[in-house]
Amino acid sequence: MRMTVIGTGYVGTVHAACMADIGHEVLGVDIDAERIATLAAGRAPLHEKDLDALVVSGVSSGRLRFSTSLAEAAAFADLHFVCVGTPQRPNGPAADLRYVDSVVEGLGPHLRPGALVVGKSTVPVGTAERIAGRLAHLAPDAEVAWNPEFLREGSAVHDTMHPERLVLGVASARADTLLRTVYEPMRRAGVPLFTTDPATAELVKVASNAFLATKISFVNAMAEVCEAAGADVTLLARAVGADSRIGPHFLDPGLGFGGSCFPKDIRAFAARAEELGAGEAVAFLHEVDRINTRQRRRTVERARRLLGGTFAGRRVGVLGAAFKPGSDDVRDSPALAVATAVRAQGAAVRVHDPQALDNARAVCPDLTYTLDIPKACEDADLVLHLTQWPEYRAIDPAALAGVVRTPLILDARNVLDARAWGAAGWAFRALGRPVSTLGGAS
Ligand code: UGA
Repeated sequence: MRMTVIGTGYVGTVHAACMADIGHEVLGVDIDAERIATLAAGRAPLHEKDLDALVVSGVSSGRLRFSTSLAEAAAFADLHFVCVGTPQRPNGPAADLRYVDSVVEGLGPHLRPGALVVGKSTVPVGTAERIAGRLAHLAPDAEVAWNPEFLREGSAVHDTMHPERLVLGVASARADTLLRTVYEPMRRAGVPLFTTDPATAELVKVASNAFLATKISFVNAMAEVCEAAGADVTLLARAVGADSRIGPHFLDPGLGFGGSCFPKDIRAFAARAEELGAGEAVAFLHEVDRINTRQRRRTVERARRLLGGTFAGRRVGVLGAAFKPGSDDVRDSPALAVATAVRAQGAAVRVHDPQALDNARAVCPDLTYTLDIPKACEDADLVLHLTQWPEYRAIDPAALAGVVRTPLILDARNVLDARAWGAAGWAFRALGRPVSTLGGAS
C-alpha cells in the first residue's frame, strides 16, 4: 500500500521504516529539511536498535522516500499517518497540539477525495473529533482515525514489528478494513487487534501510560515506606510482583520515570480530564507525578547526607545520563536532573554515559562528561548510579575502588550487586533498602 508518515521523530521514523520493511511504499515527511536529507541519504537521525539497517534497506529498495512537502504527501497517497510531537505546553500541564494542527492545516487543502488521516501521536481525547470537524471544511471527503503507538525507546523497531496489540480507532468500516490491510503481517502473526471508536483509541494510549506510570510511582512510594520501616523494597517488589494479577513488570523501584512520554502524558491526561469535568477521577495522577519528582529530590538529599551534609568541595562520579538504558534520549532524564542539582549545590560532577553524552552536553553544558567509567569516578567522594546501563553491572568494583577517593556508592536504580560491591570494600547504599540487608562495608 502507499502511505505517508508525517513527522519523522521517534514514532514517525520507526513507523515509516517498519512499514517499508513489510512491503509498503512510504513517503516520510517532515518540516526539518536537514533531518529529511539525513534520512534520504539512508541514515537514521536517532540512536535506536536495528533502525539504521531498516532505513538503509528501505531507501535502497526505493520503498522508503522522504519529502518536506505536505502537498507532495497529499498527492502521493490516500493514507496518511500523523506522527508529530505533542509536547507539554510551555505554560501549563496540557498538551501542545500546534504541530498536529499545522499538519491538518497544511495537508487538508491538498487531500484527495476519500483520504484517510490516521493519528498516531499521543493526544488528548477528543482530538480526532476536532480534526474531523476541521477537515470537514478543508477536505470534505476525508476521514480521520486514531491508531495509537505503544513503542518503547530502545526496542522501538521490535515493538513495531511485534506489537502486543493493535488499536484501530475508526469511524467507518472502510477505515477499519484499510488499517487491517496495513497491518496484515502482524495480524497473520496473531497480534490481537482491537477496533474501537477514535475517542476510545486515544484514551487507550493515555490510560496505558498512566497505568504504567502509576505502577512505578506505587513501588517508589513503597520504597519510601520501606526506608522508614527498615524494610527492603527490592524484596517486597519481587514478592508482590509474583502475584500474577499484579505482575513483576514496571515494578522496579528507584529514581523514577522520565523521558518524553510518561511525565507529560500523565499531566496532559489530568488536564484534559479536568476540561471534561472528570478531573476528580484522575486526581491520583497528580500524586503519581509528585511521587516521581520526589525520587529525584530524595536521591540528592540522600547523597548529601552520605557526604556529611554538604556537597561543597566534594567530587561526585555519575553513572548514567540517559532517561533509561538502551536510549540516547535525555529528555526529562532523572539522571541528569540529579547530576545538575548535585552540581548546583557545589559538587564537582563528572558524568559517564555510553550513548547519551552528546545530547546531555547540549542540554546541560555545565556538567563535565566522559566516555570512560574510571575517569568519571576518579578521586570521587561518592559514586551515583543513576541509569541502569548493563555496562555498570559489569563494573569490577575492586578495580573501581582503586580510582575513587572514598569507596561510597548510592545505587539509585537498585540493580547493582550489593554483596559484590560490599565485598570489594565499598560502602554500598540504595534507595528503599536498609544497610542491614545490603551486606558489605558500612
Ligand atoms: C513509554 C511506554 O512504555 C510505551 O509503551 C509508550 O509507547 C511510550 O512511553 C510513549 O508513550 O511513546 P518509553 O518512554 O520509551 O515508553 O520508556 P519506558 O521503557 O516505558 O520507561 C519509561 C521510564 O520509566 C524510564 O525512565 C524508566 O527508567 C522508568 N521505569 C520503568 C522505572 O523507573 N521503573 C520501572 O519499573 C520501569
